Formats: sequence, C-alpha cells, structure tokens
Amino acid sequence: MSTAVNLAEIARRRYTTKAFDPSRTIPAETMEQLRTLLRFAPSSVNSQPWHFVIASSEPGKALVAQGTQGNFAYNAPKVMRASHVVVLCARTELGDEHLTAVLNQEDADGRFATPEAKAGQANSRGGYVKLHREIGDTAVWAQKQVYLALGELLLGAAALGLDACPMEGFDPAAVNAALGLNSRGLSAVVLVALGYHAEEDFNAKLPKSRLPAAAVISEI
Ligand SMILES: Cc1cc2nc3c(=O)[nH]c(=O)nc-3n(C[C@H](O)[C@H](O)[C@H](O)COP(=O)(O)O)c2cc1C
Repeated sequence: MSTAVNLAEIARRRYTTKAFDPSRTIPAETMEQLRTLLRFAPSSVNSQPWHFVIASSEPGKALVAQGTQGNFAYNAPKVMRASHVVVLCARTELGDEHLTAVLNQEDADGRFATPEAKAGQANSRGGYVKLHREIGDTAVWAQKQVYLALGELLLGAAALGLDACPMEGFDPAAVNAALGLNSRGLSAVVLVALGYHAEEDFNAKLPKSRLPAAAVISEI
C-alpha cells in the first residue's frame, strides 16, 4: 500500500535539536500551519483545556528564558536562539465560563441539530468534568491533553521540515510569573523550541536510539 506521507520516515528523521541556527526564521505560512495543528489537536470531550503562547520576538523569548535559569540554564540557548518558542499551557481549572465557551463554539460550528443535542453534549462533558473535580485531578487531566498537542506539534514540525526541541527542563513558576499566566487561569506545562539546527548541533549527527519493537509493542 502506498501513502502520500511516509510517517515512518518522518518519525525516524525527527530528533531533538540541541542547538539552533539563530539566523534562520520559520516562514509565516509554516507557522500558520502549526497554529492550526495546535488548535485542532484532539482533547478529551473536546475540552481544549489549553493555551499556547508563541514567542518569536527577542523580548518574548527573553521572558520565556526567565524559566531557564539555574539548573535549567542548559536549555536557555535553545529558547533564545530558536526561531519560535511555544509555551504549551494548561488551564488550572475547567470552570463554567470555559465549558460554556466550548459548548457555544460547537453550536456556532453547527454540531447540534436540536437544543436537546446541545444539552446532551453539555451533560456528557459536564459528567467527565465533575468526575475529575471529585477525584481532584483536573489539573493533571488538563496537562494530559496538552501533551497530545505536544505530540502533534513535534510530528507536524518534522513533517514540515522544521527542527524542534521539547523541554520540560524549565521552572514553570518562573514562566508563569514572567508571562502572567496564573492570573489567566493558566500554567506552563512544556516548552517547544522550533527552527533550524545549527552546524554545531551534536545531536544531529548521533543515531537515534529506541528499544526494539518487541519490547514496546505486543500483537494479540
Ligand atoms: C516531554 C519532553 C521533555 C523533554 N525535555 C527536554 C529538555 O528539557 N531538554 C532537552 O534538551 N531535551 C528534552 N527532551 C528531549 C528528549 O530527551 C528526547 O526526546 C529523547 O531523548 C528522544 O530523542 P529524540 O527526540 O531525538 O528522538 C524532552 C522530550 C520530551 C518528549
């Protein structure tokens, strides 16, 4: 079977870039594709419990770099030298205002043939939200959804010929403070530096390493 896109080839080519070429900027139309990818990422009950801050200006990247000090200083050059840095944020709560906005958007997008269908969707999503509120893991649940967007972003960036570095190595509290995220009901979860690797990127020359297929995949 032939497919237009060779996903296996992209998966093997994609790698974590450790040094970016600061002279190269991602074209606007390519960034627009990545914005669409982020917006259209799937999430449980279409909760979309996220926000993505995209830093491309020097001052913007410097704000994000406030989270890459001390133990995380090894990530600071990636933030400052990449073309764009995405701060993937999770909502700290899934309040009624957000849930109403999602429901009304689904309505405006034509997903409900009847008022009953709209009420049914509100009810079913509300059930999951209530469940997670009761368990007390709403923030973790939201972060899981954010990681789906992360996966899409990394694969999409590679498919578009971009290099990327996902980063958990930063201080979320410092990024939250620098970007004023907490007051917006948000918290930084993971960063992704995007751009083009520099000549000195040692990781570009190393072979990728993964456990064998039999160790991670079982067929039944
Ligand atoms: C969620 C996540 C967080 C990561 N954090 C960092 C980081 O802070 N700094 C870094 O240089 N690499 C980071 N990495 C890169 C991983 O080390 C890398 O993905 C892994 O070694 C596999 O290599 P590959 O991406 O080149 O295939 C992170 C990767 C993921 C998925």
